[in-house]
Amino acid sequence: MTTTGTVNGSNEALRPHAEDAFAEELKALAAADDRPRPTRWNLSPWAVATYLLGGALPDGTVITPKYVGPRRIIEVAVTTLATDRALLLLGVPGTAKTWVSEHLAAAVSGDSTLLVQGTAGTPEEAIRYGWNYAQLLAHGPSRDALVPSPVMRAMSEGRIARVEELTRIPADVQDSFITILSEKTLPIPELGEETQAVRGFNVIATANDRDRGVNDLSSALRRRFNTVVLPLPATVEEEVDIVSRRVDQIGRSLELPEVPAGADEIRRVVTVFRELRDGVTGDGRTKVKSPSGTLSTAEAISVVTNGLALAAHFGDGVLRPGDVASGILGAVVRDPAADKVVWQEYLETVVRERDGWKDFYRACRETTAGR
Ligand SMILES: Nc1ncnc2c1ncn2[C@@H]1O[C@H](COP(=O)(O)OP(=O)(O)O)[C@@H](O)[C@H]1O
Ligand SMILES: [Mg+2]
Repeated sequence: MTTTGTVNGSNEALRPHAEDAFAEELKALAAADDRPRPTRWNLSPWAVATYLLGGALPDGTVITPKYVGPRRIIEVAVTTLATDRALLLLGVPGTAKTWVSEHLAAAVSGDSTLLVQGTAGTPEEAIRYGWNYAQLLAHGPSRDALVPSPVMRAMSEGRIARVEELTRIPADVQDSFITILSEKTLPIPELGEETQAVRGFNVIATANDRDRGVNDLSSALRRRFNTVVLPLPATVEEEVDIVSRRVDQIGRSLELPEVPAGADEIRRVVTVFRELRDGVTGDGRTKVKSPSGTLSTAEAISVVTNGLALAAHFGDGVLRPGDVASGILGAVVRDPAADKVVWQEYLETVVRERDGWKDFYRACRETTAGR
C-alpha cells in the first residue's frame, strides 16, 4: 500500500500501523528467529507469539508485550493461522480483539492493512472485488478493470486479511467467505477466471459477543473458523498494567507528560470500572448496581489519557483526581436518569468510605453535582 503521512522523511502518521510502529522489534525478532517459518510468514509461530506476549532476545533486544493475558490464547491463535482454518477473535468490547488482530497480521505478513471493516452496509465488493467503471466502460471487463478487495489481494499475495466486526455484515454478504475459506478460491464469473489463494493466506475476523444474534454466523461459515475468546483482564493488577502501558504509549505519541506506571489515579479508574462492571466491590463485601455502559479496559485507557491531557494543558502536569473525574462520569453515566442514580449510590456507599480515597471522592462529587 502507498502511504502518505511522511514529513521530511520521518513517519508522522498520527497512528502508524503496527508493522511501522514496531518495525525495530520485528526486525530483531526475524534476525534472532531460527525456527521453521510457514511459507510466506515473516516469522516462525514462536516468534509471532513472542512479539505479541513480549520477551527478551539473546542479543538483548526487549520485545514489549502487546497483549497481556493468558499465553495459551495467543499460542492457539497463532497456531490456527498456520492451519487451513481461519481465526475468529470473539469477546466483549474493549478486550483487544482489533489490537491483537492488527499485531498478528503485522507479525505474520508484515502488513496489517488488508482490512475489511464490517458494517450493516458492507457490500459484497468489499469482500470480493469491484470494477473501475471508466476502464470497464472503455474496454469491457478485464483484469485491468477489476479492483481487488483486500481479501482478494491477501489471497494472491499469500498474506493475512483482516475482517473487523464480522457479525455486523449482513448474512448473505458474509456468505461470500464460505467459498473463499473452504475452496480457497475466488471465482470471477465475468472473466471466466478465478483467483486462487496461495500459501500464507488466511483470515482473522473479530466479532463482538454482544452482537450475537444480530447477524449470527451461519453454521457453514462458523465451521471454517477456530474461535478464540478474549477474556476481560483477570485481576486489578493485570488491568492496571494494561492501562499503564497503553497510556504511556499513547501519551508519548501525543507528547503528554509521563505518568508513573500504576499511578493512584490509574488504579482508581480501573478499580471503579471493575467494581461497577462486576456488580460487587473488590473485597466481595458490598453489592453494587451496574450501569448501562460497557466500562471496558479500552474505556479506562481513554479516561486516563484524557485526564492526562487535562493535567498537561490546564493543570500542573500531574494527573490528579479532578482530571479523571469527568471522564469517569462520562463513561459511567450513559443514561442520564438511571445511570446517575447508580453512580451516586456507588459514590456514597463505596467511594466515600474507602481509605485514602477522600480527595478522589470529593473530586467525583463536585463533578457529579455540576452536571
Ligand atoms: N489484555 C489486553 N492486553 C493489552 N491491551 C489491551 C488488553 N485489553 C485491552 N487492551 C487495550 O484496549 C484497547 C482497545 O482494544 P480493542 O482492540 O479496540 O478492543 P475490541 O476490538 O475488543 O473492542 C487497545 O488499545 C488495547 O491496547
Ligand atoms: Mg474492535
